[in-house]
Amino acid sequence: VPDSSGRAPYRLWGARFERGGLAPEAEALNRSFPVDARLWREELEAEAAWAEALGMAGVLAPEEVERVRAAIGRLAESAASAAGGGTDRAVPPDEGDEDVHTWVERRIAEEAGAVASKMRAGRSRNDRAATALRLWTLRALDGLDAELAGLQAALVAQAEATVDALLPAYTHLQRAQPVRVAHWFLSHVWPLQRDRERFRDARARTSVLPLGAGAAAGSGIPVDRERLRARLGFDRVSPNSLDAVGDRDFVAEVVAAAALTGVHLSRLAEDLVLFASAEFGFVRFDDAYSTGSSLLPQKRNPDVAELARGKSARLVGDAAAVLVLLKGLPAGYQKDLQEDKAILFDAVDTLRAVLPAMAGAVRTLRWDAEASARACDASLLAADVADALVRGGRSFAEAHAVVGRLVREAESRGAGLLDVPAELAAALDPALPAALAEVAAGPARSVERRTVEGGTAREAVLRQLDAARALVARS
Ligand code: ARG
Repeated sequence: VPDSSGRAPYRLWGARFERGGLAPEAEALNRSFPVDARLWREELEAEAAWAEALGMAGVLAPEEVERVRAAIGRLAESAASAAGGGTDRAVPPDEGDEDVHTWVERRIAEEAGAVASKMRAGRSRNDRAATALRLWTLRALDGLDAELAGLQAALVAQAEATVDALLPAYTHLQRAQPVRVAHWFLSHVWPLQRDRERFRDARARTSVLPLGAGAAAGSGIPVDRERLRARLGFDRVSPNSLDAVGDRDFVAEVVAAAALTGVHLSRLAEDLVLFASAEFGFVRFDDAYSTGSSLLPQKRNPDVAELARGKSARLVGDAAAVLVLLKGLPAGYQKDLQEDKAILFDAVDTLRAVLPAMAGAVRTLRWDAEASARACDASLLAADVADALVRGGRSFAEAHAVVGRLVREAESRGAGLLDVPAELAAALDPALPAALAEVAAGPARSVERRTVEGGTAREAVLRQLDAARALVARS
């Protein structure tokens, strides 16, 4: 886009073309500054490291390295204030540059003069784009880990307050067995922990330096890549230049992990939406996390949870998009890869919007322990009656059949499982009255009987809570 003076824009290429400048619609399609401007900090960092590497390789004189470094320092400051600080989404104004790499080079040329044109030696935008995006991703992963830990902390805090409250565990969304409410809260902590582990895992393969790969065949300048690696904080140096410029596996891994996180959030959200309905009535979201209806004055809508559920659609879509983007590409850099950033940014931004809102909604919700206890009717004890018969010597298959008949009897009389007259129970199996007496203590006794690791007994849940607390404390 020529500026108002009609001057040709700063370009990193063009001499081989007879006519300067792209057609406007080709230019609009080609330009990536509106998306990749978010990499400006990482670009400047990599630029300073590159100047030093060129200095050590004898391409830049020591005073030229200093001039570039000083220019980059000034640029970082002015860009930060122009961008308005705050999140990494704050970017310098769009002055029509083709991409963030062109922006950086033009601005260095404006600040440091002709030396900027020497900076181009030995590298290409192909290794630069991969380097800046990897640096950005490493930072984004740190942020996501903290956000995930924040939601875990909210779930753990609720679990601490609900160790002695009960609700039905559901299978097929039918009442199945009583569990501690804390156990339900904690059941959503572990998927998030696996997400954190997946992101941590992806980090190892993200932390690889592509700079020095050049366009495809490796830098023509014998730069010290090991020093570049250490300077930019990567764990490893890419072992193959062609792979280095074409590899976006790290994007695919992060976006796929984000999609699974989205799926986990949608499942937590669905539980909460159900539990907040009048039909369940276990959960009341705080006013600060509830919305009203324009028509129905009584409504108290769980929009935060619904949006968490809805946003997971984008995350799943992003995971599909990145795989389709990469599928069938030839080795090395292809312009298709420019699309990697919009996909990755969308996934990270979506999680960064959803995670804190869900953490707040969970932290502030009120659990109605009486309502969830009321839902623990005697039918939830059917398996306990069968277990009691097994302790009395029946096979489980026999016991299951006896209790099945007991359930039928209770249903036909409109009575609870424990309210079937003893003589009728005895007619089904002489051991049944004693088994019923054993479980008569109710759901509180039932959860306490499950002392296995990962079970619902108080001791087991407290141990689980300790382990969950440690995950949050360590972050
Ligand atoms: N903006 C580009 C991207 O994000 C930079 C790489 C372009 N390389 C090239 N040789 N045209 O992928």
